[in-house]
Amino acid sequence: MSWPQAADLGLTGPALVLPGPAEVAAAACAWVAELCTGSREFHIALAGGSTPRQMYEHMSREYKTEVDWSRWHVWFGDERAVAPDGEASNYRMADVSLLRTVGIPENQVHRMPADDSSLADGASRYNTALSETMPQLRGMPRFDLVLLGLGEDGHTASLFPGDPALSVQDRACTTSRAANEPRNRLTLTYAAINSAAHVAFLVTGSGKGAALRAVQERSVPAAAVKPQDGELVWFLDQAAVDSLQSAGQSVW
Ligand code: 6PG
Repeated sequence: MSWPQAADLGLTGPALVLPGPAEVAAAACAWVAELCTGSREFHIALAGGSTPRQMYEHMSREYKTEVDWSRWHVWFGDERAVAPDGEASNYRMADVSLLRTVGIPENQVHRMPADDSSLADGASRYNTALSETMPQLRGMPRFDLVLLGLGEDGHTASLFPGDPALSVQDRACTTSRAANEPRNRLTLTYAAINSAAHVAFLVTGSGKGAALRAVQERSVPAAAVKPQDGELVWFLDQAAVDSLQSAGQSVW
């Protein structure tokens, strides 16, 4: 897709700058609604954290009858090692804000089993599901779309600075450790994310300036997201861009 209104902010792809979080949510939803048209399965990996929630809520309100949800397969970019109904669960956030409203077939919602007694077994089960259910590209699942957030330390999904997960190239899903609780995680790897057809970062608020600066300097995990045969785009609000412009040299 061409982005005539996009800005080049020195990030890793074109940046669409919107006035605030509500406009970011609306713009991202409109783009996804266009992306998922067609007649085949649509495989999407949802981002966790708080930023995408507003997008999911907007999607469930405004696109409930506009999208053919029966073709969607919902996966997750990462998950915390908590129960699926726990406050910190990315699955729970997506279920409450979108999934239970739009009626995606239950067997097409692929929860990341980070609550398994063994995190490694959970990763292995997810890898099996990814390889058995999705189109593949060079031995990796080919997502139609991966949604990502940006942590204040420059992490994305649960790919944290210095974590061994950053070097995993032979699997789509692996274990990782966060700096803060809940620390045990499952995450998609760069191998999976960078095999996607489309990747979009959703970044809002004045707290992300230093992380965005570090992406400009290519010095944090989020900067290594580069789909080899796909498109990467950033959806930012003005507060995030203003904080980038006022951020000094990054500390990473
Ligand atoms: C998670 C997310 C994580 C998130 C960033 C940004 O499980 O926490 O997947 O990568 O996207 O931490 O979070 P916010 O959008 O809440 O700032």
